[in-house]
Amino acid sequence: MSDRKEDILNILKNSDQKPVSGEELGEQLGISRTMVWKYIKSLKDDGYNITSSTKTGYILNSSPDMLYSEEILSGLKTSIIGNKIYHFDELESTNEEAKRLAPDEDEGTVIISETQKSGRGRMGRDWTSPRGGIYMSVILKPTIPASHAYHLTLVAGIAVANAIRNLGINACIKWPNDILINNRKVCGILTEINAEIEKIDYIVLGMGINANVDTGMFSSELKEGSTSLKSELGKPVERVSFVQNLLYEFEQEYIKFKSKPFNDIVDEWISLSDTIGKEVSIMTPSKMVEGKAIGVTKNGALIVKKDDGEKEEIIAGRCIY
Ligand code: BTN
Repeated sequence: MSDRKEDILNILKNSDQKPVSGEELGEQLGISRTMVWKYIKSLKDDGYNITSSTKTGYILNSSPDMLYSEEILSGLKTSIIGNKIYHFDELESTNEEAKRLAPDEDEGTVIISETQKSGRGRMGRDWTSPRGGIYMSVILKPTIPASHAYHLTLVAGIAVANAIRNLGINACIKWPNDILINNRKVCGILTEINAEIEKIDYIVLGMGINANVDTGMFSSELKEGSTSLKSELGKPVERVSFVQNLLYEFEQEYIKFKSKPFNDIVDEWISLSDTIGKEVSIMTPSKMVEGKAIGVTKNGALIVKKDDGEKEEIIAGRCIY
């Protein structure tokens, strides 16, 4: 969106539904009334409901249900995460776009798309990405050993679970990074890293949230185990304020992650966990581990006690129960 359109929106939002004339807008922005009219037309094309009267002026009645960066930025209470937000109507994958942009971006830049043509999940799976969902990737550049990058998946899981809990819904985390509501998945997290030996260049943290999507339209394989914020709330979630709150929750956790022992994050993760205490089967890249999930190490690895009593610590895998 152009700066001018953003300026016009801000003026209309701040006028509290009192009409603002084209002349006044033009004067404030140093442009002609014809230009004002053109920008207003373009805003209407973007889905803003603006009434115009030649006598009184323009009134903003409502904003579209789009995750435009200007909408998210106005009212965002963070200092690093979301400092810059790129919004797209459609992308192949926000993680791919984030990886393309990451070398030239500062930490905290966010990429959002209304829909994804090739949304990617963990372990080579697809991520179904219809409109109404939230598909978002955050670029991070922490100075941590590459081997600790997976810690950020736990950090993001806590943030998403907390943001959903703030809506009054009891969300919890299935190890390592699925967010569940009533045993059904509402969000998945895909962490990707670009590093040289031990130095991280950047981490891309992708989150896919079934916000206002109809999971009944998902493939038969997915729909049984999926839910959405809309169906749990019984009404559509206000996506812009949800994203603002999620970025805030994420920043709080990220600051803790950078300044406190990881143990603190692990404790918080355990308090939100759905997995501890359950009989689990974990498909790791090399083998299947079966047993009871009894805890998480101070490094974030899941501890599984097998039937023979032996304990295994697992840092990556697909957890089934
Ligand atoms: C999973 O549970 O398998 C992880 C799913 C991650 C999906 C998100 S949507 C935004 C970002 N872009 C992608 O292509 N994938 C992640």
